[in-house]
Amino acid sequence: MSLTIAKTPGEVKAVIREWKKEGLSIGLVPTMGYLHEGHGSLIKKAVSENDRVMVSVFVNPIQFGPNEDLESYPRDFEADVKLIESLGADLVFHPEPSDMYEKDFSTTISVSGVSENLCGARRPGHFNGVCTVVTKLFNLSEADRAYFGQKDAQQLAVVKRMVRDLNANIEIVGCPIIREEDGLAKSSRNTYLSADERKAAVVLSKALKAGKEMIESGEKDASKVKAKISSVIDAEPLAKTDYVEICDWNLIEPVDIINNSVLVAIAVYIGKTRLIDNFIIEK
Ligand code: PAF
Repeated sequence: MSLTIAKTPGEVKAVIREWKKEGLSIGLVPTMGYLHEGHGSLIKKAVSENDRVMVSVFVNPIQFGPNEDLESYPRDFEADVKLIESLGADLVFHPEPSDMYEKDFSTTISVSGVSENLCGARRPGHFNGVCTVVTKLFNLSEADRAYFGQKDAQQLAVVKRMVRDLNANIEIVGCPIIREEDGLAKSSRNTYLSADERKAAVVLSKALKAGKEMIESGEKDASKVKAKISSVIDAEPLAKTDYVEICDWNLIEPVDIINNSVLVAIAVYIGKTRLIDNFIIEK
């Protein structure tokens, strides 16, 4: 099958209608474009598990705060299409913001609790924007499965909670973080880094590794693990910690003692670029 590019919700619906008539299973990979190997791994998995795959490429304005990087967010639709095609997906959805949000758009999906700490606390309204666009993409694609990277671990937890709470008829598939050779988690925002900043950015994975080693050697006191992670970050002159947190993985609420499954998550400014990374300990 050759790749179809749909620009409007109506065009997507026409394709999906045909797939549904044939009884085909559908996988959805929601993205904001500027695709890298992390996205590639989601698309590959979706292609291997579904009859048809839709990839959305849409920089969703309503998940950006007023002082965030909506305008400068990197875009390269031609390169994205090449990659998507080479990985065997079937449909790209690439709408304009006006195709997604009418002038009088008035509905927001808001998930409380799991969206309130970590990035939710630093980026007010961010997860409302994510949940609203993701719900629209679920409805348009009528997908059986949707694929999200663990790199945005809180996003994954929030979307899973939303799907559970709303009885949405879709399976959420979480996929591992893909890293550069030196450990830096792949991110479209890595492109903002200067050469020196790129070298410094390895501190995120280095700090997490130090924390993980402590937990694996039996440390249960979250404050000690957080202090170790912070000390590694603080030793890098170009880095400034936004948060270092250890949360219950199901609730996304900070814990003092590491007993159950935890998400160890950090957000760090390297120069002006805010990067996130994490690991999960499942118990
Ligand atoms: O993770 C992202 O790229 C975005 O938050 C998503 C899920 C595509 C929604 O805009």
